[in-house]
Amino acid sequence: MLEAKVLVIEPSDSEAGLAETLLRFLDIEPVAVRDLGELRRVAAQSQPDWLGVLISAETADLWGREFIEILRSVPQPMPVIYLSHEGPPRIAESATDLPWLHLEQPIKQRRLSAVLAQAESVRAGHPIQRGNHHFRPSGNSRAMRAVHRLIEQVAPFDTNVLILGESGTGKEMAARHIHELSGRAGRPFVPVNCGAIPADLLESELFGHEKGAFTGALSTRLGRFEFAEGGTLFLDEIGDMSLQMQVKLLRVLQERTFERVGSNRTIRCNVRIIAATHRDLEAAISAGRFREDLFYRLNVFPLQMPALRERLDDLPVLIENLLERHAQGGGKRIRFDKGALQCLGGNRWPGNVRELANLLERLAILFPGQLIGADDLPDRYRNAGVGTWVGGDLRVDVPTACDEIASPPRGLFDAEVDDAGAQSLPRGGIDLKDHLCAIEVDLIRKALEEADGTVAGAARLLRMRRTTLVEKLRKYHLSA
Ligand SMILES: Nc1ncnc2c1ncn2[C@@H]1O[C@H](COP(=O)(O)OP(=O)(O)OP(=O)(O)O)[C@@H](O)[C@H]1O
Ligand SMILES: [Mg+2]
Repeated sequence: MLEAKVLVIEPSDSEAGLAETLLRFLDIEPVAVRDLGELRRVAAQSQPDWLGVLISAETADLWGREFIEILRSVPQPMPVIYLSHEGPPRIAESATDLPWLHLEQPIKQRRLSAVLAQAESVRAGHPIQRGNHHFRPSGNSRAMRAVHRLIEQVAPFDTNVLILGESGTGKEMAARHIHELSGRAGRPFVPVNCGAIPADLLESELFGHEKGAFTGALSTRLGRFEFAEGGTLFLDEIGDMSLQMQVKLLRVLQERTFERVGSNRTIRCNVRIIAATHRDLEAAISAGRFREDLFYRLNVFPLQMPALRERLDDLPVLIENLLERHAQGGGKRIRFDKGALQCLGGNRWPGNVRELANLLERLAILFPGQLIGADDLPDRYRNAGVGTWVGGDLRVDVPTACDEIASPPRGLFDAEVDDAGAQSLPRGGIDLKDHLCAIEVDLIRKALEEADGTVAGAARLLRMRRTTLVEKLRKYHLSA
């Protein structure tokens, strides 16, 4: 974020001066633009390092349609940070495709940092975190109704929440929903993946650092706590945090103060903490890997996200929801026939909702706008049918082999068959977990090779988030 630029577009002159000074203080280069012609020229250069434009609501209205057209001509979504005492500029109503972010007047440094963090996240392709319908974890099963009740109960308080659950169950989504339902909703929601950031960098990531605090600290940098001021900090994969950092975090939770790395100035913070992990923290405590005192601080309000296989009756709603999301992104909606739904309903979904979302995305790309039958599903889903759909309901207790619908029958019941890559079970059995790890390591290596060693490229090939891949690299001691 330090090399980024913000275009300051002629708010009132005195405000522009203040904005420019504050931006420089935050190590962001302001580029003053005084008229539409100048903006058009700068936009034509389509700078990838722009963080957004900063403009007063009045000037935005004055420049009107032409201003909007110029911003629309920039390839990536360009956040418009508008300065106003009241609501957004009138022109924003007819340009809802642009990301509008409010900066109150008079400009305060903390608020500016928070808005810039939002702008950064928009530029990185994340939607603006506003309005709660988008982030409400869908599902009407008993398990999910209980989760929603707990979320609604805890949201209005500043209580720390600890979200537990397997990978892909929607922990981050639940955290966002708590934030959206809280009084902090208009403020930033700042996620940090404690497992994906190397231990020695996590401190400066969370608390920021002063210029020269360590080799490579070329300028002062704000940490996530400062970005989250007034809002919520989501500490994901807290179970992976080093013991040393746990001590530092504990202090912030107790005293609500911290220092940037390389500074002895104490900074007060007003941040709500939501932490999450897929690990068993109590086991980690017994093993001496997690501090008990920190656990009790975080575990004030535990929230357990159910695995998808424990709430298979949510499948129709989830599928509907995820397909709708895909359609909003411009994709053509797919549909499933009964046989395909039966197969999906019989799966164990070890990757939970994320696995379902990935499968639907893949199918929507392969079969745009089509009706998907059991035959169109990847093998491991075709072979898993043990559910039945009655009307709109899924019954999972009636075993129904998918092979009845899909032909030719293959897979699940014929371990001897070794066609098309199907595996046979060795005589003495197999350590499945080790076997799957070996496959995983092998595919990660291949993906890295194919992506010329770049983690982002390999993550794309493996259809996983970069941070997830970073975690796996650490787990298997691999390097990019
Ligand atoms: N109840 C739900 N309704 C709709 N989408 C969901 C739901 N739960 C999860 N998802 C989607 O599934 C994916 C995984 O969710 P999320 O990242 O919140 O899970 P997680 O538990 O944090 O996973 P991990 O432990 O792997 O980080 C996301 O794309 C999310 O939007
Ligand atoms: Mg997560």
